[in-house]
Amino acid sequence: MANSLKGQLAVITGAGGGIGVTMVQRFQEAGAKVIACDVSEKALGSLDVAHKEFFDLGDPDACRKACERIQSSVGLPDIIVSNAGYTRAETLEQVDDRAWNFEIDVNLNGARNFTAPFLEPMKARGSGVFVFISSVNALAHFGNPAYAAAKAGLVAYARAIATECGVHGIRSNAICPGSVRTHAWDHRIEKDPQILEKVSRLYPLGHMVTPIDVANAAVFLASPLSAGITGVALPVDGGLTAGNLPFIDAIR
Ligand SMILES: NC(=O)c1ccc[n+]([C@@H]2O[C@H](COP(=O)([O-])OP(=O)(O)OC[C@H]3O[C@@H](n4cnc5c(N)ncnc54)[C@H](O)[C@@H]3O)[C@@H](O)[C@H]2O)c1
Repeated sequence: MANSLKGQLAVITGAGGGIGVTMVQRFQEAGAKVIACDVSEKALGSLDVAHKEFFDLGDPDACRKACERIQSSVGLPDIIVSNAGYTRAETLEQVDDRAWNFEIDVNLNGARNFTAPFLEPMKARGSGVFVFISSVNALAHFGNPAYAAAKAGLVAYARAIATECGVHGIRSNAICPGSVRTHAWDHRIEKDPQILEKVSRLYPLGHMVTPIDVANAAVFLASPLSAGITGVALPVDGGLTAGNLPFIDAIR
């Protein structure tokens, strides 16, 4: 996929996270100029990128201002990868009003608030690509109900852009990763040090997904290699949603 994004300007949110850092690296290797976004300078770390933006996806005004700053200081992006995400409320019992609103705000409203302002200028230009990092939680229930609802909403939003803006040369797709060992798992590992082994056994490929697996899929969906693909929710999940492995093991 070398040079598949040559000369493209790509924005990546959650760029300082476990998947985000790898995504930045893969996009740069593919020839893209990267604008890295995260909640704070500290969260972004020492990434070497063309431009950095810090804002909280939970703050609608901050999202819109970041879009304006990007356009005025670097230009209208060719590619937007909406990758930032957050969840802690693991089951319905843990989802109170605060958790529900917070997780919907960051994962769904924030993604929409940050991407929507780019639509009209992209339509006027006649090109643009969106990649939304959703989750297998959008496709079946694996816990985290508020996050799951937000991630399913992201798939719907990706399809809305694909369907309504395709005629203007805009493509929009979602990626639904399975479990990836990033800091997002630290709080679960603290509770159960064996959790990664337990979860890995649920995957037909026998292991969890890697940040590179997700980043490679994002490069593909951002590049002309996927010119005919729009409005899809692509599982990058080691086969998790292809079937029910524990069921098969039970009847074997
Ligand atoms: N790790 C997994 O198992 C997994 C599985 C499926 C989907 N995903 C999704 O992949 C994406 C990346 O996750 P990750 O595993 O790299 O997580 P991570 O926690 O390592 O990184 C998430 C990034 O998002 C940023 N972020 C969080 N809240 C924010 C806010 N309010 N405003 C701005 N930025 C904010 C964080 O600062 C961080 O850099 C997320 O959307 C996540 O939901 C992860």
